Amino acid sequence: MTAIDGQRREGRQDRRVPWTPVIARIRLYTGLLLFTYVSAHLANHVAGLWSIGALDAGLEIIEGLVRHRAVTILLYGSLLLHMLIALRAIYFRDSLKAMSAPEWVQLTLGLTIPLLLLRHVLANRLMHDLYGLNDDHTWVLLNLWVFDPTAAVNQAAGVLVAWAHGCVGLHLWLRYAAWYDRARPWLLTVAVLLPALSLAGFVAAGMTVVELTATPGWMPLAIKAANLPDNATINASLVLFDRIKIAYGSVIVLAFAARWVRLVLHHRSQGLRLAYGGDRSVQAIRGQTLLEVSRMHGIPHAAVCGGRGRCSTCRVRISQGLDNLPEPDEAEAKVLRRISAPPNVRLACQTRVADGLEITPLLPPHTTGMAETRGGPSYLQGRELEIVVLFADIRGFTTISEERLPYDVVFILNRYFAEMGAAIEGAGGRIDKFIGDGIMALFGVDTGPEAGARQAVDAAREMARRLVDLNDSLSGDLEAPLRIGIGLHIGPAIVGEMGYGRVRGVTAVGDTVNTASRLEALTKEYGAQLIVSEALAEASGVSFAGHPTHEIEVRGRDQAMVVRTVMDATGIGG
Ligand code: FES
Repeated sequence: MTAIDGQRREGRQDRRVPWTPVIARIRLYTGLLLFTYVSAHLANHVAGLWSIGALDAGLEIIEGLVRHRAVTILLYGSLLLHMLIALRAIYFRDSLKAMSAPEWVQLTLGLTIPLLLLRHVLANRLMHDLYGLNDDHTWVLLNLWVFDPTAAVNQAAGVLVAWAHGCVGLHLWLRYAAWYDRARPWLLTVAVLLPALSLAGFVAAGMTVVELTATPGWMPLAIKAANLPDNATINASLVLFDRIKIAYGSVIVLAFAARWVRLVLHHRSQGLRLAYGGDRSVQAIRGQTLLEVSRMHGIPHAAVCGGRGRCSTCRVRISQGLDNLPEPDEAEAKVLRRISAPPNVRLACQTRVADGLEITPLLPPHTTGMAETRGGPSYLQGRELEIVVLFADIRGFTTISEERLPYDVVFILNRYFAEMGAAIEGAGGRIDKFIGDGIMALFGVDTGPEAGARQAVDAAREMARRLVDLNDSLSGDLEAPLRIGIGLHIGPAIVGEMGYGRVRGVTAVGDTVNTASRLEALTKEYGAQLIVSEALAEASGVSFAGHPTHEIEVRGRDQAMVVRTVMDATGIGG
């Protein structure tokens, strides 16, 4: 390979990368527009349960809008763009094996829609525009239910497939949103109910038309009102529709064939190798991310956020070839700063393969929990949720543990953990872990952030009260009462089942966790029993009036953070 070849290849790779987010956005917006159009049609079909007149009234509103020239261009332009983006995705897809089940469903449904609906759209919209066909529901239903029942089945299937395709797309888009878990039962109800009612309306209206054909003289009048073109035009149009369908099918086949040719050429002329810790080396394709290479070769690799560059669990140490990588972009650099990663650590989901790379994934692959988590809430598989994190620590416990017999240390700690654990769980929190004499707890994982914030404040108050009682009962055993520091913060965190072997459990990672820990550490500096972020105080609805505010710097944050310091938490909000 010459240096010029190398530059050309790099140039090609670089040109492709910045377009990806733009194309993803276009696909989203065009998809949303088309989904809205399909939803409007489904909603209109429900009117078939009442009458054909009600159906036509709804159609008049929809078509009145859609047949406006600008909206027509927008709608059909969106359809074309959406299809072109799907073909591009097929062409650039490096590994079909790496596609998840929902992605397969999404792709298959999407490619099937035009095959099922093309004829219906062309036979109505095109014939209306070219030959003045009156495509109201009387004619459409007569055509579908009386003259061509196979087309009726095709059309119903096409609309349902389009709806399912849109629903899967929405699910893939929204699944990491903090509110999605709570809204899911409602969304699922709409996703099932709307097409079911729509189908019922379509059948009811079809049966009405079938009954009307028995009325003497009705059918000729209906055909006349449809203003059909002559037979030669109809036959020529039907042949044209079939050819368009064949052309569409050919384009899909061509896209897969072009992808295959691209991969073969890449393997021949541009194949790279990626080494894993010196033990294993696999073939990679320029342009793939390190995570994609792992997935393509079935190498287990942690990726809690699914490759969205948010959780850092895919991080790898680059032991060779670091100089061949471009600098991390701003989004990746921000995550790396947050975990204080050294320069040779990168996110596998954001870093593209380059010459001579040797990497070592830094987290156990089971961190994802993806393959092993079955049943239970969906966040077990990794989800970004708005939660509250509590950290608590005993002040000066190292001194106590140095001065006491081991038995005493264990006895005191277990009494302390029992009291604090009861306070946290009693308030509705979840103990995440005990770290030495420290405690980490989560609130709001199942109940949402506002309830979690309220529970966390209740827990902190109860912990402080129980500490008073505990100190009373241990007064003969302790030279000085136990003192604790508690930090509370609310914000987004990656929540999921993580760990290894039997030591697995629901936990959280991310900036919110680090910040809560930092607030707990600051209680020493301020001589406070509790420090809460202002965001937490506001979300809890508990009044912190009278407790001073401070602006603090937190590592990894661009702006100062406002916190409240509470000297004695026994009375907060009470
Ligand atoms: S998979 Fe989450 S940051 Fe890479």
